[in-house]
Amino acid sequence: MTVKFQFGDSIKLIRNIRTTGTIAPSSKALIKALLKPVDFEKSHCIVEMGPGNGCVTHALLRRMRPTSQLICLELNHEFADHLRTIEDGRLHIYNACASSIRSILDELKISEVDHVISSLPLTLIDDDTVSRILASVGDNLRSGGRFLQYQYSLANYGDMKPLFSDVKLRFTFRNMPPAFLYDCVK
Ligand SMILES: C[S@@+](CC[C@H](N)C(=O)[O-])C[C@H]1O[C@@H](n2cnc3c(N)ncnc32)[C@H](O)[C@@H]1O
Repeated sequence: MTVKFQFGDSIKLIRNIRTTGTIAPSSKALIKALLKPVDFEKSHCIVEMGPGNGCVTHALLRRMRPTSQLICLELNHEFADHLRTIEDGRLHIYNACASSIRSILDELKISEVDHVISSLPLTLIDDDTVSRILASVGDNLRSGGRFLQYQYSLANYGDMKPLFSDVKLRFTFRNMPPAFLYDCVK
């Protein structure tokens, strides 16, 4: 499956910059580096937070097993509507805040997830919501599961440390702007 990114993706990102925090979708190099720690053979259920135009979503679907599930939580209804056009039975799209992960998992009768992949612009989200999102990621990941997040600053590094048994930090120049990658293991 090849994915073409349209000029319109950037227009949507710019128009909603207060909730997207960027002007362009993530580069292929950033996505590859972000997903590198995931063992897709052993992943049955993955949650994606802030899928936006779907560039990470498509990369996940390409790597996932045919029987795995991908649950996406996207706040922006335009992006959510666009993501619903992806024809893939493994994909569940919710137009919802990432903090509502538990109620969505309850609806799908899923007790815990293998990994959470996040493009959320944490620095633009209020502190209380960020605390709720990170706490619910910690609560709903299986033991040994990973929370993978990229960010353009180190602003939330301290928030991750107390919630996970191991937090590793990487960096890539191969994105505009360059980005930090958090690899947090429960
Ligand atoms: C930086 S864009 C990422 C888009 C794409 N995943 C990428 O990597 O290029 C961040 C996305 O997070 C979404 N978002 C922001 N706050 C959110 C929240 N509280 N819950 C769910 N999605 C949110 C925005 O609407 C936007 O689509």
